[in-house]
Amino acid sequence: MRIPTIDLRVAALLYCITLSTCSILLSGGTIISFDDATSCLRIIENGSLLITDDRITSIFDTSTPPNIPPGTEIIDCINKIISPGFVDTHRHGWQTVFKTLGSNTTLAEYLLRYGSGVAAPLFSPDDLYISQLTGIYEALNAGVTTILDHAHHTWTPEHAAMGLKASADSGARVFFGYAFQNSSADFGVPEQIAQWKNLKSSFESNTTDLVIAYDDWSGNPAGENTRAVIDLINTSNVSVLTTHSLEGPWLFGNTPTTLATLNILNTTTATIMSHASYLTPRDALLLRTYNKHISITPESEMHHGFLHPTSHLILDQASLGVDTHFTFSTDILSQARLWLQTTRALIYQSVADRWEIPSKSPFSVTQAFLLATRNGGLALGRPDLGVISVGAKADLVIFDGRSPALLGWRDAVAAVILHAGVGDMESVLVDGEFVKREGKLVVDGYEGVKTRFLEAAGRIQDVLEKTPLPAQEGSVIPGYTYGYIPQADVVRGEGTGY
Ligand SMILES: *[C@@H]1O[C@H](CO)[C@@H](O)[C@H](O)[C@H]1NC(C)=O
Ligand SMILES: *[C@@H]1O[C@H](CO)[C@@H](O)[C@H](O)[C@H]1NC(C)=O
Ligand SMILES: *[C@@H]1O[C@H](CO)[C@@H](O)[C@H](O)[C@H]1NC(C)=O
Ligand SMILES: *[C@@H]1O[C@H](CO)[C@@H](O)[C@H](O)[C@H]1NC(C)=O
Ligand SMILES: *[C@@H]1O[C@H](CO)[C@@H](O)[C@H](O)[C@H]1NC(C)=O
Ligand SMILES: *[C@@H]1O[C@H](CO)[C@@H](O)[C@H](O)[C@H]1NC(C)=O
Ligand SMILES: *[C@@H]1O[C@H](CO)[C@@H](O)[C@H](O)[C@H]1NC(C)=O
Ligand SMILES: [Zn+2]
Repeated sequence: MRIPTIDLRVAALLYCITLSTCSILLSGGTIISFDDATSCLRIIENGSLLITDDRITSIFDTSTPPNIPPGTEIIDCINKIISPGFVDTHRHGWQTVFKTLGSNTTLAEYLLRYGSGVAAPLFSPDDLYISQLTGIYEALNAGVTTILDHAHHTWTPEHAAMGLKASADSGARVFFGYAFQNSSADFGVPEQIAQWKNLKSSFESNTTDLVIAYDDWSGNPAGENTRAVIDLINTSNVSVLTTHSLEGPWLFGNTPTTLATLNILNTTTATIMSHASYLTPRDALLLRTYNKHISITPESEMHHGFLHPTSHLILDQASLGVDTHFTFSTDILSQARLWLQTTRALIYQSVADRWEIPSKSPFSVTQAFLLATRNGGLALGRPDLGVISVGAKADLVIFDGRSPALLGWRDAVAAVILHAGVGDMESVLVDGEFVKREGKLVVDGYEGVKTRFLEAAGRIQDVLEKTPLPAQEGSVIPGYTYGYIPQADVVRGEGTGY
């Protein structure tokens, strides 16, 4: 049945206006729904899904349910796979203008060349806005409907406000983690907290929430700034706190143990420690005790070289993130696929180390799918995100099940996790509204956004191209030095040298 002719769409729109509610029926698709009673995915073939305003209000086992509200817009989803939108629990949207410049960067070089501590002079507030907005559009196109942005571009009040405005304007579901940091003598943590409170009381958005990012827990555990941030968490009813957590030779801290010592794990605030590489058994226990989460960013942790040797041991308190999307993929689907095979490799290795043969696979596509969707919602304290169930937010991705990549699928979850790409994501909805439709972003004025973005990116990239790479020699973190890195080369003999 191919219902959505122009006439019916106009009729549906008129109904929306007159009844002031909007409903959409996604009809005839394979739905990857979530069953709260069993905590399992439930696949519904040839089903349909009713969206009223911003929520999923009914899920049917049939493609043509009776009694749908008059004026409902019907979208034919035969041969489609309907998935919850993907949840990214760690990203820095402001960095989009650096695209492809960090293709071979390391974490130490990144901090000296692209990090929040050095990048301020490159950006006007307008540059910041367009870089953030364009990056979020890239994420929406790739099926990422929810983002926890660790916004450490809070260099001036104008830069901070522009990042928040771009997030709200994007239409994505953004938890905007305003970073409290020593940006300058006259714009430090006390001034930032004051701006945060102002924004919190004046700012309105149905999709963007103002939350907190802070990285100086271990660096400055007893200082006034840290006490002020804890006080804000205690008194502001903020929904999410995020921090970069990293041990091993990096000694950055901000581990669950640190946060427990500061008495900020036993809270109702959803708390996400990004990377959290090198966790100890004690840290893992704290995450489980207080139901706090980590954000594994598989590609970032491999690309920049800080790895994730123990993260596969605490997947029940984990979610997935992208991190520095200017250096690689922006989609959570790629992260899920990388992490699926990383987890398998790590666990298989323990078997191979005993000279034994694996008798089954240790990690399934269903687990990877839940990590990329529902676990992100739970990490943010939002059981209504990353799932298709009645009452959940209507944040959805519709895959073309007849694309060259998916043709012949029987297992919808395997099709998505192991075969699909961004090009197979035909439509994307956030809060019940299409942001991508029939393969194209349908955001306002995208062509103009591209033009503005390219101007800013060209200018900023020109400056970086002329900036010499930092020397990576000697000692970088007190106590630990740079190490010798053998180069891999695919060319026989002398090789190419890079
Ligand atoms: C889907 O269900 C409808 C009726 O609800 C039926 O006409 C149609 O043949 C079904 N399609 C498939 C692919 O099973
Ligand atoms: C990294 O790539 C850039 C070009 O993108 C190149 O100029 C630089 O020499 C490379 N650095 C290393 C260490 O390979
Ligand atoms: C930020 O400033 C405070 C107060 O001067 C200081 O104690 C703290 O170490 C600084 N943090 C960083 C990361 O520079
Ligand atoms: C939030 O959504 C409601 C209902 O659709 C709408 O009336 C209101 O204007 C929206 N608010 C903002 C700030 O977008
Ligand atoms: C925050 O709340 C915790 C737990 O209620 C309490 O121990 C701590 O003293 C409070 N800290 C501040 C700075 O208000
Ligand atoms: C705290 O925020 C939540 C939403 O994040 C809201 O439901 C709740 O009512 C708020 N509580 C207070 C005391 O403001
Ligand atoms: C968390 O704090 C509450 C009081 O606010 C206390 O009753 C509870 O025992 C604490 N939980 C843990 C695991 O320490
Ligand atoms: Zn990060």
